[in-house]
Amino acid sequence: AATGEWDVDVVVVGAGVTGLTAAYRLHQHGRSVVVLEARDRVGGRLLTEERDGVRLEVGGQWVSPDQTALLGLLDELGLETYERYRAGASLYIGRDGERRQFTGDAMPVSESTAREMDRLTVELDRLAAQMDPLSPWEHPDAEALDRVTFAAWLEQQTDDVEARDNIGLYIGPAMITKPTHAFSALTAVLMASSAGGFSHLLDADFILDRRVAGGLQNVPLELAARLGDRVRLGSPVTRIAWDDAGVEVHTADAVHRAGRAILAVPPTLVSRVTFEPPLPAVHQQMRQHQSFGLVLKLHLTYATPFWRDHGLSGTGFSPYETVHELYDNTNEDLATAGDARGTLVGFVSDVRADELLALSAAERREQVLASVARYLGEQALDPEAYYESPWMAEEWTAGAYATSFDVGSLTRYGPHLRERVGPLAFASSDVAGLGFQHVDGAIRMGEAAAED
Ligand code: FDA
Repeated sequence: AATGEWDVDVVVVGAGVTGLTAAYRLHQHGRSVVVLEARDRVGGRLLTEERDGVRLEVGGQWVSPDQTALLGLLDELGLETYERYRAGASLYIGRDGERRQFTGDAMPVSESTAREMDRLTVELDRLAAQMDPLSPWEHPDAEALDRVTFAAWLEQQTDDVEARDNIGLYIGPAMITKPTHAFSALTAVLMASSAGGFSHLLDADFILDRRVAGGLQNVPLELAARLGDRVRLGSPVTRIAWDDAGVEVHTADAVHRAGRAILAVPPTLVSRVTFEPPLPAVHQQMRQHQSFGLVLKLHLTYATPFWRDHGLSGTGFSPYETVHELYDNTNEDLATAGDARGTLVGFVSDVRADELLALSAAERREQVLASVARYLGEQALDPEAYYESPWMAEEWTAGAYATSFDVGSLTRYGPHLRERVGPLAFASSDVAGLGFQHVDGAIRMGEAAAED
């Protein structure tokens, strides 16, 4: 395998935020690095692109006040943020199919449902406060919580179906992007704990607070600019030979020898690389129990943000709708001054996304617009531009937003999540504690890998 005659100190595989953060920190500390990226662009799950004349954030975009690693890096890179548009009333479509307006965080549900939702919120906040998100398996109830699906846990807690459906929505479709019967209550508590508590997930004004001027992809673009030709695009890593002395990292047309490698790719894509010798059994097992969720991010642009004229924020929620979350996503940065158009972003998750993806493009569009119209009225049926983010069909991602464990596996394999194997380190937002599945977590994991 490796010879000890290195081309660079560290090879980083993947030019998403995790890999670029790791490489930039190593470079700042005088280590030589090369970053090998499969795609012909940097950013991974972050991408800002023009579609039909509209600048869209195709992947991740929002920043919340507790994401201090991301806020710090934005500062360091000189990137500005702006507040997401939120003036006016929000909408909720209940189990009875009725559309109701609300302001603040008091959802327009019956008094008894509201009481049950409050009680569940207190309980999830309590469990989250007991957890260090870097080691969920050490939670006092870890074993019990990891054996039960989040859906079953909610059923144990309350008979109120609408309360269960709403609390389930904020962690299932809205975050993990799997049905609540497909992940454990412990994973649900991890999601809450990684965001500073369940109450934060309920509060769209907190969790979806700000956007980055020009788009969140500016973070990886700025990092890559500082790394210059150390970043090699169009270079999928196919094979890594390793021993205690170092690594030989192979792409189709090059071999890079180094002391260490950081695999800054989602766990599901680690297995696309051939390792010689193979990774230890527990690593091969562990990554078979991690899988991507599925969510369609939909972008709808109209001649004007017409909902604002009706006193609406554009925010809508419903566990009973195809589009379970809806927000005003009009670009408000200086680059778009003078543009009168308004953009909505909507999400369709897990089994509802399966149903949509089985339809033709025209049928999908029709169903999505019909759902948005149930929130915002007939005007929603006629957008100037309509775009569906295609992450689930992209070879170098294959899902959205991120990966999580199946039931029982967080306690079973969690302690190996960030374990180095000889010269090989593994990092991505999927294995983060704080900022789990988010850009903030990607930065934290990139920095930890560089430090190591
Ligand atoms: P990422 O997947 O970005 O990077 C991995 C890189 O490795 C990719 O560039 C890939 O091409 C490359 N790669 C893989 N295999 C390779 C190989 N064999 N050889 C070479 N390269 C290889 N987060 C947030 O904070 N706020 C938000 O609003 C959202 N919203 C959101 C919406 C949507 C639609 C998505 C898909 C995701 C989000 N997220 C988010 C999540 C966030 O985007 C995500 O957690 C991070 O960008 C992940 O960064 P990583 O660098 O860890 O992985």
